[in-house]
Amino acid sequence: MLKGRNLINTDDFSVEEIDEIMALAQDINKSPENFSNSCRGKILGTLFFEPSTRTRLSFESAIHRLGGDCIGFSESQSSSTSKGESLADTIKTVSNYVDVIAMRHPKEGSSNWGSHYSSVPLINSGDGGHQHPTQTLTDMLTIKESKGKFSGLTIGFCGDLKFGRTVHSLTKAMSNYDDNHFVFISPEELQIPEYLKIELDNKKCSYEEAKKLEKVIGQLDILYMTRVQKERFFNEADYIRLKDRYILDNRKLKDAKSDLVILHPLPRVNEIAVEVDDDPRAMYFEQARYGVIARMALILKLLGVE
Ligand code: NCD
Repeated sequence: MLKGRNLINTDDFSVEEIDEIMALAQDINKSPENFSNSCRGKILGTLFFEPSTRTRLSFESAIHRLGGDCIGFSESQSSSTSKGESLADTIKTVSNYVDVIAMRHPKEGSSNWGSHYSSVPLINSGDGGHQHPTQTLTDMLTIKESKGKFSGLTIGFCGDLKFGRTVHSLTKAMSNYDDNHFVFISPEELQIPEYLKIELDNKKCSYEEAKKLEKVIGQLDILYMTRVQKERFFNEADYIRLKDRYILDNRKLKDAKSDLVILHPLPRVNEIAVEVDDDPRAMYFEQARYGVIARMALILKLLGVE
């Protein structure tokens, strides 16, 4: 039963519950008109303390496409946080105004903590460098629609695997399915966090770490490119040194499988050359479209208004 629940970490939901959301998302994708009034009278609150294009706008689009409404703010400067209000008080207040909250905040753990003050379901829409579970639902829907399955896949993650919260959430989710192999491609300084490697070991998942994309690209079924997370660096010189380490272009793709699926949560900076956009394997803008559908399915489940 997903009604009334929070979504803070990817593993708050069981495999069966995620599959349930995916099935509903696929139904919505086929016949969106059947859902256009499902959330009439319902209001989503978007509390975004950090910049966002896709996550916030796809949440807004999702509730509108379900016939509901949306209120919120897109930067803390326009909320009472700038007057010194605590996060707890903001959440207690807003949960009187809305039926479900989507919150993004630069601090790791903020959604979990904030959810204790909310009287309505709270959806973590990114908490610092920690987790981003609705991007994972988006990524999984894209994988389902393109590969038709969540198991038996070799999944490469490339770029900033240390601070990239979308990587952390998707790794956790895909590690719950059988026979996936993970290839983590990053510079030494931006490797996947130790706690995730321990989790993979505990689940007996197979993975490897690599430094060169060219060396491993040929074995991948999915390549998940990521941006180096400038805002999480303490030192600008480190960011500048690492930011253009991986650039996917047509030349590198020559060695890739013909049915590779190229994903990226976006925004892209330099890590995928624009020439790749015309390659049929490039799915990242389609992925952004699935972000609306996945969030429609999630909202319906949390509100219990199917
Ligand atoms: C990601 C994020 O905010 O973590 N973007 C998104 O939500 N689609 C990835 C990023 O900012 O690099």
